[in-house]
Amino acid sequence: MNPAPIGVFDSGLGGLSVLREIRALLPHESLLYLADSRYAPYGEKPERFVEARTLQVCEWLAAQGCKALVIACNTATMHAVQTLRDRLTLPIIGVEPGLKPAAAASRSKVVGVLATANTLKSAKFNRLLMSLQDESRFVCEAGLGLVPLIEQGDVSGPAVRDKLDAFLTPMLEAGADTLVLGCTHYPFLAETIRAMVGDQLALVDTGSAIARQLARKLVEFDLAAGPDAMPRDRCLSTKDAAHLRAMAAALLQVETNAETVTIEPAPAV
Ligand code: DGL
Repeated sequence: MNPAPIGVFDSGLGGLSVLREIRALLPHESLLYLADSRYAPYGEKPERFVEARTLQVCEWLAAQGCKALVIACNTATMHAVQTLRDRLTLPIIGVEPGLKPAAAASRSKVVGVLATANTLKSAKFNRLLMSLQDESRFVCEAGLGLVPLIEQGDVSGPAVRDKLDAFLTPMLEAGADTLVLGCTHYPFLAETIRAMVGDQLALVDTGSAIARQLARKLVEFDLAAGPDAMPRDRCLSTKDAAHLRAMAAALLQVETNAETVTIEPAPAV
């Protein structure tokens, strides 16, 4: 039985969509959530910055005594998961856009993929895309500007809807019937997307698959907390704890303690 916390990391608030799934599946585990909101969005920063900053933040989380890490950020996973696994000894669970389940579920065999510019550029994403070329056609759009709006708490306003309209229209015109939410911020847009496109697009989000993968790793490495553990969650932000607390309440309907932390200096790249 291991009561140490599981670190859950994202560039900002998006990882809360993964945290929600982990909390539901693993009620005995303590979670340490870190939002690097001071440096969000990662999806539009130089790729070398994403790799170096992810490494810096995850080393910091490991030093806080985490027994496993969930990189609840597609962009950070795409650019840094291999380096993290080479450098850190604890189990690391990454996220990647759900192209595979989407290709399997699509009837039209045209799948829309909404992800950050850096995810779409990454070698790891493009390898995944190539491996599924025979199963489906993928129409990929970089969700430029969406993450900063979600970070401010806007998940349904006119700016969000205008952007979504521009990103989803080419997918629908190409015949897509399935949409991969390839950034952990985007599940918070699910309601708005459904209101805009109805059942024209089935939404694919990997949050629950990540929680199941984490559960398997905890068993494999004998790290589970056990049924008598008293879970204690902490939410940390590198920018503004009050904002993180308010956003967790608004997006997840949960009351959480939040603290502001400094993890500096950010790498100069
Ligand atoms: N939530 C992140 C992802 O899953 C990245 C958002 C960002 O910082 O651009 O890709």
